[in-house]
Amino acid sequence: MQNHPARLIAKKRDGSELTTAEIRDLVSGVVDGSLGDAQLGAFLMAVCCNGMTPPETAALTLAMRDSGRVLQHTNVTRPKIDKHSTGGVGDKVSLLLAPLVAAAGVAVPMVSGRGLGHTGGTIDKLASLPGYRTDLSPERFSQVIEQCGYAMAAPSAEIAPADRRMYATRDISGTVESIPLITSSILSKKLAEGIDGLVMDVKCGRAAFMQKEHDAVLLMEGLVATGKQAGIKMAALLTDMDHPLGLALGNSLEVAEVIAALDGHCPDDLREVTLALGVEMLLLAGVAADAEMAKATLQRLWHDGVVRQVFRHNLELQGGDPAVLDDPTLLGRAPVVLPVEAAHSGFVSDVDPLELGRVVVDLGGGRRQPADAIDPHVGIVLKKVLGDAVETGDVLAFVHARDAAAAKSAVARVLAAMPVGQERRRRGPLVLRRMA
Ligand code: URA
Repeated sequence: MQNHPARLIAKKRDGSELTTAEIRDLVSGVVDGSLGDAQLGAFLMAVCCNGMTPPETAALTLAMRDSGRVLQHTNVTRPKIDKHSTGGVGDKVSLLLAPLVAAAGVAVPMVSGRGLGHTGGTIDKLASLPGYRTDLSPERFSQVIEQCGYAMAAPSAEIAPADRRMYATRDISGTVESIPLITSSILSKKLAEGIDGLVMDVKCGRAAFMQKEHDAVLLMEGLVATGKQAGIKMAALLTDMDHPLGLALGNSLEVAEVIAALDGHCPDDLREVTLALGVEMLLLAGVAADAEMAKATLQRLWHDGVVRQVFRHNLELQGGDPAVLDDPTLLGRAPVVLPVEAAHSGFVSDVDPLELGRVVVDLGGGRRQPADAIDPHVGIVLKKVLGDAVETGDVLAFVHARDAAAAKSAVARVLAAMPVGQERRRRGPLVLRRMA
């Protein structure tokens, strides 16, 4: 580092604005280790407490992007647009959305993450597809996009390495919940994918990173403004995460739900959110004149099986077994499947996504520690949703577990997370706000 770290940390601590050169210097110290762990923790806390101005956030984002390789995709001629979600329970949208939007002529370079806490990760879901590889070299990543319109990969060590150290330090220093730090963490990795535009799905509700709408809107504004400052097209939707998305929760169960959705059997909420994000991606790409036309195009491609063909092509290119499309039982199944039965009649008065997400983690479908192995087959499949009428003994959900003891404890927790009452409640709107 050219500056003395303590001077820059104190400047931020005292509420002054750091220059682009100072921020670049700090990020170079993150990568080459000349900024020590204590200094990094102190800097992150100063940002967490004092915030950052929009130019500081943009400078931090770009410095973090430039800390590693920035992909180019020189052979891909289509507009390159990605989507990123801040994370939820049952959120398998990426798996459907990438082939959907690719079918409409957009290139989708999607670098996705692993599950975080109770929220699932696309990379973990893809790992349940037999043979499917997400460890693509940058060259292979580009080739797959060129050939089928989209590719899905895990972040390589070359992508935004500064974020890896900063994220790990935030995780243990009480500095995760900072809008400029979340914004720069997400966008640095997305910008390194070599995209022209990004649609953010900012989740809001009990199982979201941002539980209150006010905080989620601030994050949404920060992401849109910073992405634009960094030179890409941006749009964002604020979507509901006060209830799970779709019916399947858990990795291979969610992939099976996606395969059924490709065949036309898609839960309404999953279809609505997927189409809404797809419309934004087509608009950013400039391949549809307006939202109505974009939606009609996507619906036709989905209905006519074109999206399924694109998904199959991607499976073939990334080493997956395309036979799972015709026979989803090839995904495998947990050894124990138990029903969760309603104890009395009434209406399902809640489906708590946070508790259900935690049950999936405890069944082995998520990680408690970063090195934990994932069981792809465990999870929950809902048979009833908020507001459904039930009779005593009706099945509310099925629990898929590794053994009888885990299944029994999960059944009790799912029953408590899906209370049955006498008043009929309906789910509110799924798309709460749009920003572009
Ligand atoms: N996802 C990220 O990649 N970074 C954050 O800080 C939060 C969510």
